[in-house]
Amino acid sequence: MAIQEPLKTILAETRSLVERAGGARRSLTLSPEVAEALSALDGPRSQTPTKMETGTPPISSPDSAPSLEALESLVCACTRCGLAATRNRTVFGVGSPSADLVFVGEAPGEDEDRQGVPFVGRAGQLLTDIIVKGMGMRREDVYICNVLKCRPPLNRDPNPEEVHCCEPFLLRQLDLMHPKVICALGRHAAQTLLRTGESTGRLRGRWHNYHDIPFRVTYHPAYLLRQPSEKRKTWEDVKAIMKVLNGEVVPEI
Ligand code: URA
Ligand code: URA
Repeated sequence: MAIQEPLKTILAETRSLVERAGGARRSLTLSPEVAEALSALDGPRSQTPTKMETGTPPISSPDSAPSLEALESLVCACTRCGLAATRNRTVFGVGSPSADLVFVGEAPGEDEDRQGVPFVGRAGQLLTDIIVKGMGMRREDVYICNVLKCRPPLNRDPNPEEVHCCEPFLLRQLDLMHPKVICALGRHAAQTLLRTGESTGRLRGRWHNYHDIPFRVTYHPAYLLRQPSEKRKTWEDVKAIMKVLNGEVVPEI
């Protein structure tokens, strides 16, 4: 039939358009006429197909997100916990996806919730100083994210249900990036990722193993703003991280 080649081309193009559009659509719905014409191309079939697989798996869980972009789309649409109702913006992460160093904080605050970017308020300014002045790097050279992707109202502590709902996004985020070092900022990030109840003070000052990635704990910048005398200890933590990033030391984890 003369129609066969154009039909094949149109179907192939449509399939590739759907694939490139991404999202959760996995099949094309065909009209009965097209389905019949298609099955005629391949010879008789026991059943006329009205769906055509496009090869793009449905992305419904964080674990199956193939990229940071796909994961971020899931976060933007997330309604797993009550914070979805009170947030202005989700705050996924910022910086280089191929960074050697990833900082993990607690949760967005007011400025972050407004801008959709982590660590842009006062604590964020201190974190930037730690990166730039303390480590001699640029903020764009590292990656920064939080345990929670949405702001808890009035900046209260994340509750266990919120951490439970949001944690799979962070775990997948770290899995996709696989940095050389992870630095937890404060108690929530440290306790969530290391699955411990120990305090920041007890966890800092030594190396931990997070899925075979060297993992360091230091004080949260918001805590350092309240307790400036503790900055000295964060400075020590940062120096230890730099030695590993520079290849001077291989941490025993
Ligand atoms: N504190 C955090 O833990 N994360 C932010 O993004 C801002 C402040
Ligand atoms: N408590 C926290 O939650 N974080 C710190 O960094 C220090 C004390």
